[in-house]
Amino acid sequence: HLYPQITRVAKYLPSNIVTNDDLSKIMDTSDEWITSRTGIKERRISQQESTADLATQVGLKLIEGIEIETIDFIIVATMTGDYGTPSTACLVQSNLGADQAFSLDVNAACSGFVFALSTAEKFLSSGKYQRGLVIGAETMSTMLNWEDRSTAVLFGDGAAGVLLENTSKEPRFIDELLRSDGTRGMALFAKKNLNNNPFKLPDKETSEGMKMDGKKIFDFALRDVSKNIIELLEKNPDFSKELDYCLAHQANSRILEAISKKTKIANEKFLSNVHFYGNTSAASVPLLLVDEIEKGTLVLGSHQKVIMTGYGAGLTWGSILLKL
Ligand code: ACO
Repeated sequence: HLYPQITRVAKYLPSNIVTNDDLSKIMDTSDEWITSRTGIKERRISQQESTADLATQVGLKLIEGIEIETIDFIIVATMTGDYGTPSTACLVQSNLGADQAFSLDVNAACSGFVFALSTAEKFLSSGKYQRGLVIGAETMSTMLNWEDRSTAVLFGDGAAGVLLENTSKEPRFIDELLRSDGTRGMALFAKKNLNNNPFKLPDKETSEGMKMDGKKIFDFALRDVSKNIIELLEKNPDFSKELDYCLAHQANSRILEAISKKTKIANEKFLSNVHFYGNTSAASVPLLLVDEIEKGTLVLGSHQKVIMTGYGAGLTWGSILLKL
């Protein structure tokens, strides 16, 4: 019997770097404000590439040298898909020529990659499928209200993902705890479709990109996400004792520091690259995974013990305990 394992990773970022100083030229903000509150210094903003374009570049790297017919599924985690339909995953499938792969998107906002990875692991664990791509990809720049400095400075575009295969002799996915609370969903929302239905009554909200209650989201991250991590680790004391690193969603460094304090997990264990990309939503956890593998901090196949944690709109949050 073989178990699912991450065997490859890849990332792709739009080349256009936008620094805090660049933003301060087009809106009333400053490097000092953004850096001190978020740790973000720069982000990538796509000038032409769509979410599917970014995800496709990741997919191409993940399948290099692999027979494309052996890919059983493609899951893309995104909340900024190019179309209502087809899904971003179907666009990627077409671009890769992965004609044996069933494809679907997972929308769990900034928790998207963690939820998608959990979903993919279940497909593989069922024994029905052997190999799949899980990609987090976002063009947050298309969803932002660029007149709203309180959100526009926080986000960025990017994509990253993994090849997941039934190749491990021992379990790698040790445990997980996924959560949602739709009753608090309007703490962070973005209206999508312009409804031209001629019979329709006026909208309750106007459509103006993303709206966020920053304090509510900060409190949520602090309370619920910390509780989630503590609960899952307490359930797995042996894993917890040997925990090497936390790969938590990169929303901002103050949130990570606060979660570290609350969970009593050393701040050095919370890896971070928010400095370079801002909050890339569903792409943030896999981007961090790839960057740390490139740096040599994390090594696939090493049995390092990590916790992957996502949290975001929905509200959605959750963690997976993983042996690399
Ligand atoms: N530049 C300059 N000033 C700004 C900016 C900006 N970009 N944005 C807002 N301000 C002003 C506001 O207008 C406000 O001014 P006022 O006091 O005159 O009304 C003031 O700054 C607010 O400042 P603070 O109260 O110091 O802001 P706070 O410490 O709450 O930090 C922040 C705001 C960073 C958004 C914080 O609430 C936060 O981190 N929230 C979490 C949100 C988050 O990361 N969401 C990510 C998306 S969801 C997710 O991924 C889970």
